[in-house]
Amino acid sequence: MKRNFFQNLLHRVFQNCAKPEGRVGKLIVNMMNASHGPVSKWGLSHLKLAPDAEVIDLGCGGGSNVSAMLDACPDGHVTGLDYSPVSVTASKKKNAAAIRDGRCNIVEGNVAELPFPDDTFDAATAFETIYFWPANSFPGVHRILKPGGDFLIVCEADGSCPADEKWTRIIDGMKLVSRENLVCELKKAGFREVRTDQKSVMGDKGRWLCVRAKK
Ligand SMILES: C[S@@+](CC[C@H](N)C(=O)[O-])C[C@H]1O[C@@H](n2cnc3c(N)ncnc32)[C@H](O)[C@@H]1O
Repeated sequence: MKRNFFQNLLHRVFQNCAKPEGRVGKLIVNMMNASHGPVSKWGLSHLKLAPDAEVIDLGCGGGSNVSAMLDACPDGHVTGLDYSPVSVTASKKKNAAAIRDGRCNIVEGNVAELPFPDDTFDAATAFETIYFWPANSFPGVHRILKPGGDFLIVCEADGSCPADEKWTRIIDGMKLVSRENLVCELKKAGFREVRTDQKSVMGDKGRWLCVRAKK
């Protein structure tokens, strides 16, 4: 795609949403911690976590959702995973006290090859990240969940509003997945009881999507 100077600059900055890198990446992960707050809070309200739950946040970015889940599970343990070393460093900094207390660890890794044994987690979450995942990543998430475990996906855009296209135009490789396709992909990966919720925002110019599924 041919871009003018301004579009090129925007592209270089926002490409860091897919994989934060360097100084701009550091800035972007901190910005995401703040700007994703409302959609993350809404999404997380769909997940009931036991106080001692073993949870993993996939594509954890700057680690604010790891923090929120540590608060929700005072006797539990939360792992954050991200393939960007910049995100891993930011998440570790944000959750340093919980890491010291042995309640949290942050791992560098790709969702395509999750480095965990089968049946490890009570819940897995994915906030604002599945847009960038390789195809067929859901069976791996299914594998690492305990039977009965929950998978929560939260997206600020699902391609159902014309305004969503602004993101796919500036971020290479970003894929918006519709609610119907997500449900279908999750069932194909072996998930059951797939429930969805949507919330209109910005006077119906945007739509948030939350999907919860059980192993
Ligand atoms: C838009 S950010 C969202 C970060 C965080 N979840 C939030 O809500 O603020 C997407 C994150 O997913 C990570 N990510 C994308 N694809 C990934 C993959 N295949 N494996 C691991 N992490 C991935 C990126 O590095 C980035 O930190």
